[in-house]
Amino acid sequence: MSKSIAVETRAARKDYGTGTHTVRALDKVSVSIDQGEFFTLLGPSGCGKTTLLRLIAGFETPTAGQILLDGQDITADPPNLRPINTVFQSYALFPHLSVAENIGFGLQMMGRPKAVVNQAIEKMLALVQLESLASRKPQQLSGGQQQRVALARALAPQPRVLLLDEPLSALDLKLRKEMQRELKRLQAETGITFIFVTHDQEEALTMSDRVAVMQSGKILQVGAPRQIYNHPVDRFVADFIGETNFLSGRVAAGRATLSSGEVLPADVAGHAGEVTFAVRPEQVSVCAADASDCLAAIIVDTVYFGTDTHCHMRLGDGTEIVARLQNAPSGEIGLARGDAVGLRFEPGALQVLAQ
Ligand SMILES: Nc1ncnc2c1ncn2[C@@H]1O[C@H](COP(=O)(O)OP(=O)(O)OP(=O)(O)O)[C@@H](O)[C@H]1O
Ligand SMILES: [Mg+2]
Repeated sequence: MSKSIAVETRAARKDYGTGTHTVRALDKVSVSIDQGEFFTLLGPSGCGKTTLLRLIAGFETPTAGQILLDGQDITADPPNLRPINTVFQSYALFPHLSVAENIGFGLQMMGRPKAVVNQAIEKMLALVQLESLASRKPQQLSGGQQQRVALARALAPQPRVLLLDEPLSALDLKLRKEMQRELKRLQAETGITFIFVTHDQEEALTMSDRVAVMQSGKILQVGAPRQIYNHPVDRFVADFIGETNFLSGRVAAGRATLSSGEVLPADVAGHAGEVTFAVRPEQVSVCAADASDCLAAIIVDTVYFGTDTHCHMRLGDGTEIVARLQNAPSGEIGLARGDAVGLRFEPGALQVLAQ
């Protein structure tokens, strides 16, 4: 069954300012987001995430390109005519209104009958589990509770699409984890398409159906979390999503070799010439120095992380490689600085990246 597309941008471009002061915030961004999808925009500060949300919401007009909703061109529609709502990083609740009044505000503005508004408030209060706090004012709530109210307020008019711009970044780690699960639940229960912005790669990987990785106004890769993590298209994506080791080498006559000449077990189909190999720290294992099929290395440092130990090693050519080794119940990994060891990559772990 083919999925229907909720939001589509076609070669969307956004320039801020004029003349020599122009900033190209978005450059030919074309992306399709499916109906009911949890879609995440991930990228460093200034890469254009908020700008893309603002174009979809209608707060900004693209310099070129189109925005479509359910196949209709909405590029020229003002925000209030788009069935799209936004949750911002700062919850921006109305301080003089109660929790219930905040939630009902949007529907009231739309002129819905009081009974309909009240019914929606009840439903939303239950959805975000704040029934007992309905009459409180925002300043009488914790950060997480305020964020729940902001979510309920945005969901109450039943938008087709909910845009969430770093909605969890003001929360401490524990509450943030709780709210991540809460958001996933809300999305599953309402079936609304969520477009979520974060610069936290772990948040993107754990929450999303698909992730778009952005850099300098462009989308570099769109894919399911596993696909992006295991098959990054380039060095930027590999580096941005989790920790990665990079090794310089080349591919010739169907063989992958390091600059130092040692052969690597990489699938090199479709590659030739100078390349970069990428491998995740959890896909590197340490073996005895004289074991077969391994690269000789010296341990530079070991760092204890509780669940695992990060073992920093140096290859003959000076390249540093980190292996993430699961700790034994004793907490010891039996390796120390200066030890000569061998290192090995799990089958299929080496990715070949164009340089
Ligand atoms: N109103 C504006 N006028 C001029 N330049 C702007 C304006 N808004 C954003 N920019 C620039 O456009 C680029 C993209 O900004 P945007 O806010 O979309 O980034 P972002 O990915 O959301 O970053 P962050 O993670 O810091 O929120 C940046 O270089 C920014 O300085
Ligand atoms: Mg932003």
